[in-house]
Amino acid sequence: MDISYERRVAGISMVIGAITIVLFGVTIFIGIIARTSQGGFITLRPDVFYEFMTLHSVGVAGSLMTGITAMMWYSLRKHLNLHMNLMQIMFGIIGAVVVSLLAATLLGFYGTGWTFLYPLPFKSAGAWDDWAAGLYLLLLLCVVAAMTISWGDVVVVASKKYGFSGAVGWKLIAGIDTPQTTPPPVVLISTITSLCGILSNIAGATVLILLLIHWADPGFYLDYLYIKNLIYYFGHILMNMAMYMAVAIVYELMPIYAKRPWKSNKIVAISWNAAFIAVSLAYMHHLLQDFPQPFIIQVIAVFGSYMAAFPATVVTVVGAMVLVYRSGIKWTVAPLYMFIGLMSWTIGGFWAVLDAGFNNAFHNTMFVPGHFHLYLLAGTSFIFVATLYNITEELGGCKDAFEDRLGLWAWFIGAYGVALTFLLSGVFGAPRRYAVQMPGKEMWSAFGALFGWIVIFALILVIGRYITRLQKVKPLRS
Ligand code: HEM
Repeated sequence: MDISYERRVAGISMVIGAITIVLFGVTIFIGIIARTSQGGFITLRPDVFYEFMTLHSVGVAGSLMTGITAMMWYSLRKHLNLHMNLMQIMFGIIGAVVVSLLAATLLGFYGTGWTFLYPLPFKSAGAWDDWAAGLYLLLLLCVVAAMTISWGDVVVVASKKYGFSGAVGWKLIAGIDTPQTTPPPVVLISTITSLCGILSNIAGATVLILLLIHWADPGFYLDYLYIKNLIYYFGHILMNMAMYMAVAIVYELMPIYAKRPWKSNKIVAISWNAAFIAVSLAYMHHLLQDFPQPFIIQVIAVFGSYMAAFPATVVTVVGAMVLVYRSGIKWTVAPLYMFIGLMSWTIGGFWAVLDAGFNNAFHNTMFVPGHFHLYLLAGTSFIFVATLYNITEELGGCKDAFEDRLGLWAWFIGAYGVALTFLLSGVFGAPRRYAVQMPGKEMWSAFGALFGWIVIFALILVIGRYITRLQKVKPLRS
């Protein structure tokens, strides 16, 4: 690949990385304010709590998703000639969405949470303005368009280079691969992830358009169960794709630190194809309490949820352990973030399986935010930060300082504390999405808030250090 192309992609990724980590920090801060209020240290009016919860969840997930997409481009730069103009368009759309999201939540008081379950957006009992609901749905449609552009580019460019069946690993599985049709793992996983993301975006676009029509014409009939299926197919897969993109990055970057290759093979190809099928079925565990859902679908939901947790996770985690075992790897901050991120993905996934298996006990309790906060805050986010560190090492020759290690361990303690307090309060029956906690459950929120402030401390260190390290990066257009 042309070296100046590689440096330009690295440059764009670096800038997007800097903007998204700041946005990530700001929207986490909003989540911490919400948690601090649940813990009783301050009092947010319930309507403000829900605005904050909505802004926090969409903002933090959106910024992480955009950041990790940029990091995926960065780690694909040696293999695929992705279109830089499309990257810029995608990022421009997301930028416009962020500004408008602030308007919808802070000026229009919109507060359904990210899930926008029908009919809530249209039945606010005066809590938010009608225009804010329409704007929110339109914004999500723009996010769908932006993500489809970047994922579409990955699928098209990878298919041109390796052939479609080569890029998704079918040739490897069939044993008819050649060196020309065998993509490196980062390409294989990114292509499968992108395809899965495009499918979920089709569901997302469909449901958002239907809801927008209903918004414009309330007489337009919508089926509740059909809409809920589409929303969760879209939302559940989207958040999983953030993690899968992160894992693809690990396959590319971890070998640099372990000084050993990590190649595609039949097992890697089978496991990621199986993950594609499983993750498409697993969303249904969100509907296990919806009794009109056909019974057979509920059985498939449980099966899909268990299956989603295993093939890719086991193959990747075992692969990573084998890669680093006795490799003499120097555990600088970047590989540490990466390795802990992978492990947290597994641990968070384990809790998700428990949620599907004991859904009667855990449905809509704090156990649910517990599992996803673990794999997002200590999993995907860790791999995102690892990549930022890797960029500054590779392009700026930066070395770790004491603050880098302090940031890592503070984030680790804070993230596990935030997630465990959610999980434990769920085990003891605290319901999720309660602005005011039920009597006797505030203690968990109070501890959760304290751990949240540790995360803020870590984020300030990480952002400060990233900006300092960026200054050492050589000019990009040399
Ligand atoms: C210190 C870090 C964080 C804190 C203190 C925090 C706090 C919160 C709180 C208080 C809620 C509402 C929980 C409820 O009552 O149901 C929440 C929900 C949520 N958070 Fe976080 N959060 C943090 C990090 C993150 C991260 C990193 C992500 C994603 C990348 C994230 C995504 C979400 C989502 C998707 C929801 C669900 C909103 C809904 O139910 O509609 N959070 N968070």
